[in-house]
Amino acid sequence: MSRVIRPLNMQWQFTPSFELSYIQKDYNLEHFETVSLPHANQEIPYNYFDEKIYQFVSCYRKYFLIDKRHKDQWVYIDFEGVMTYAQVYINGIYLGEHKGGYTPFSFDLTPYLSFTSENILVVMVDSTEREDIPPFGFVVDFLTYGGIYREVNLRIVDPLHIKHVFSRTKNVLCDEKEVEATIIIQNNSASKVSLTTSAMLITLEGKILSQLQKEIIVENSEQEIVLILSNLAHIKLWDIENPNLYMLKISLEKEGIIDTYETKIGFRTAEFLPNGFFLNGKPLKIRGLNRHQAFPYVGYAMPKRVQEKDAQLLKYELCLNTVRTSHYPQSKHFLNKCDEIGLLVFEEIPGWQHIGDEAWKKISCENVREMIVRDFNHPSIIIWGVRINESPDDHDFFFQTNKIAHELDDTRPTGGVRCIINSELLEDVYTMNDFTLGDPDIYGVLRSPLSVTGLDHNVPYLITEFNGHMYPTKRFDQEERLNEHALRHLEVHNAVSLNPHITGAIGWCAFDYNTHFDFGSGDRICYHGVMDMFRIPKYAAAFYKSQVSPIKEVVMQAVTRYARGERAIGGIAPLTIFTNCECVKLFTEDKTIGTYFPAKERYPGIAYPPVIIDKLESQWGMSFGDLTLVGFVNNNEMVRETYIKNPLPTVLSMKADDLILSHGEIDSTRFVIKLLDQENHELPYTDEIINISIDGPAVIIGPSTFSLIGGCRGVWIKTTGDIGSITINASCSTLKAKPLIIQVQ
Ligand code: GAL
Repeated sequence: MSRVIRPLNMQWQFTPSFELSYIQKDYNLEHFETVSLPHANQEIPYNYFDEKIYQFVSCYRKYFLIDKRHKDQWVYIDFEGVMTYAQVYINGIYLGEHKGGYTPFSFDLTPYLSFTSENILVVMVDSTEREDIPPFGFVVDFLTYGGIYREVNLRIVDPLHIKHVFSRTKNVLCDEKEVEATIIIQNNSASKVSLTTSAMLITLEGKILSQLQKEIIVENSEQEIVLILSNLAHIKLWDIENPNLYMLKISLEKEGIIDTYETKIGFRTAEFLPNGFFLNGKPLKIRGLNRHQAFPYVGYAMPKRVQEKDAQLLKYELCLNTVRTSHYPQSKHFLNKCDEIGLLVFEEIPGWQHIGDEAWKKISCENVREMIVRDFNHPSIIIWGVRINESPDDHDFFFQTNKIAHELDDTRPTGGVRCIINSELLEDVYTMNDFTLGDPDIYGVLRSPLSVTGLDHNVPYLITEFNGHMYPTKRFDQEERLNEHALRHLEVHNAVSLNPHITGAIGWCAFDYNTHFDFGSGDRICYHGVMDMFRIPKYAAAFYKSQVSPIKEVVMQAVTRYARGERAIGGIAPLTIFTNCECVKLFTEDKTIGTYFPAKERYPGIAYPPVIIDKLESQWGMSFGDLTLVGFVNNNEMVRETYIKNPLPTVLSMKADDLILSHGEIDSTRFVIKLLDQENHELPYTDEIINISIDGPAVIIGPSTFSLIGGCRGVWIKTTGDIGSITINASCSTLKAKPLIIQVQ
């Protein structure tokens, strides 16, 4: 019988405490509530809360039945992520512990299972900031939240089964390519077994491109087999424009198939060299942002669709080619989506500035292993971060993390994110957080790579953070600050582009995030994102978005609230228009103001620099009319926007990311609610109160009555698992939104 993966995410019992008596099967569950995974042990407010509120020990219990037909099989329980420490019990028996909230772990349930009655799985979850577990031990600029926040599965397999498959693509840039599959076979049968193993390369449409079989004898409890599929012709490369994926299917056969393991792979080369980064041999400047996997109210506990959506936002709304999973391994759903859409990934181990004792370092080394074993086959991952983010040098420790990474993976380079100069380079790429821009003690936009590395020659060099705390900016800040925030992102990318010895830059950061009181704006939010926590763009997002080719999408976004007295001294100049148009014409009512061109000379490194209009006759005390911007590509009008002089609330708009959701498991989607003026622009300073009501098989995450934040707000809904139609209504004091209808199918 081939493997069965049984999701175990619905109908758990939860209580925010733990006692040993809870592990008993017939424990009285009166004070437990029924929850589903992903689950946050504590829903938190949007801001201004005490971060201690989710730092407690809790208990999760799950009853499940196992069919008798699985009696001769092996049953594992797989946890994708439990924050931060877990002890697992089955039918009253202690199975073991796991330290660390970002990596998966499994236990073998087989000897303890009942096939005739219900089994009880109990997990003690310690979500305190335990100093013995990375990233803890000192301050950390993010929150880690608590609970079983990723999925749990039962994995039912033959005693002889595939534990892992590591796929290496070879001769990638030749006409005939190769896939080398290293298969780790687990033999729990305690005897020597002869088997047939097979490897197949299949298109995602199901066409078999190549296959190979090999007779083997499995003698040990764990055995490694290598199968090579060679002479692979007409294979399409994986890259950021065409992220072609293939399925590698490995099977074990003994009087029929006994196990099958499928993993998607891509053919690509990714090299960091002293003179740039090369994807499939072609130079590519890395343009990225850092992502924290956190969301309002539920922290990390968001299901597949929401994880995937973040990848899509980074790729399509921000037009990035790279994301760094700061500062820990992120959801497999997020990474799968990065593979699918062609978004490069810098993935790193958990940590933030602090290095603990030897036992702590051991967990960190284990994190390197767990991360690479889980994520080896993702073509999107181009580098492993194997240093504690921004930690001091520690030769022995980082020598070890690098050694582990290189032993497990000879196909990818390592990086180690630092913020100190002259730090010892133990990795393949010198990865540096460069916060020069805005530092009064350092002149310029960036440090030169040689001044950072202290070496006399160039090495592969990547900027892994910039901006962030140097210029925190709220989406509802004053226009001039938002403009400057956007220009700082632009300045850095411009400087990076002009320096051949910098492979690229990954800015801080994509989304605002909740943090400890030691950081952020005092309200437990770090406003460092180019989007807010609801993933609603600030103007800096428009800079990123404007870097898409106009053939794909025409972008024109002016940094203006269009008001007479928003800026110091009044007026709207200098006016920045982020656009990929060739020129922009400005009109005020029936009068032409002028035609303006992108600031190519000011920003020679930027593919689509903004139009910047330094002077406009629109000062305090002058009369002022509606302003129209028209963007042209190839002399054709492509886009037109009108900003009106006297905006008034006209439409309450509600737009959902998805109108169809899935039943069975918890599903979730976001809708954005905005109060718009007569020309569909946001009213950035309205704090109107919104009331939401929801009918059907879903609930609102967070409050259903709230004020808008800077004219808009995002809301996630979460399904109950049932099929049906969801209707969402919203209203404010004067307007009603058109109802949203979402189907759960
Ligand atoms: C860095 C750190 C990030 C974040 C950022 C804010 O030092 O690595 O996690 O705190 O600063 O700018």
